[in-house]
Amino acid sequence: MFEGHDTTSASAVWSLYYLAMYPDIQQKVYEELVEVLGESDSINVEQAGKLKYLDMVTKETLRLRPSVSAIIRTLTEDLHLDDLVIPAGTGAQIRIWEMNRDPLYWEEPEKFDPERWTSERTKNMHPFLYVPFSAGPRNCVGTQTSILIPLLTFSLEIYNKGQKFALLEDKIMVGKIVKNFRLEFQTGTHIKCLPDVLPFVFICAFF
Ligand code: HEM
Repeated sequence: MFEGHDTTSASAVWSLYYLAMYPDIQQKVYEELVEVLGESDSINVEQAGKLKYLDMVTKETLRLRPSVSAIIRTLTEDLHLDDLVIPAGTGAQIRIWEMNRDPLYWEEPEKFDPERWTSERTKNMHPFLYVPFSAGPRNCVGTQTSILIPLLTFSLEIYNKGQKFALLEDKIMVGKIVKNFRLEFQTGTHIKCLPDVLPFVFICAFF
């Protein structure tokens, strides 16, 4: 349940949150939806592939609010980091949440900025800098999932078809809502996010 449902629903909800917070970005998403879908309210796979700006919004959401905030691996061999040797057998926690806001790699890391995902700006990005779906042999399963969905032929530039499936789900959920509704915050609503309460789960409190 966690892998396939909570992840996509959490990221869709956070996208809606950011779109409510930034009406100009929401408007751009809406205009793209009108351009691609016309009068229609449904989104097919081919149309989802054309929603490039919504794609950028989804990636930016997963940068600031990664559904999986950390992953853990056991080192199978010694790891040499400069002069430091971390012995095989050590548990290593890869903190996706923190990686995604490291000022060494991200300009104005706390800023929600879908424009950082243009192909121009991502072409030299290190492939392991942004790993909301993990990486390597135990990354997000979807490769198999996408075998069940041979229609997934649109091009998203992340490296795994399963990730394309998850992004597709997200884009269809968010796109259908934005096409039909305008999102706004109720005055006085503040949402506080506490990512470090548990290693994998972050708790959001509504005040
Ligand atoms: C925004 C959506 C999603 C995100 C951010 C996400 C993220 C991740 C991450 C980070 C992992 C690796 C966990 C680890 O290494 O410990 C993972 C694994 C996995 N994901 Fe996803 N996922 C998403 C959607 C999905 C969907 C839609 C499915 C199924 C249809 C799915 C199925 C799985 C499964 C089964 C694994 C375990 C793979 C393994 O251990 O070999 N995920 N996911």
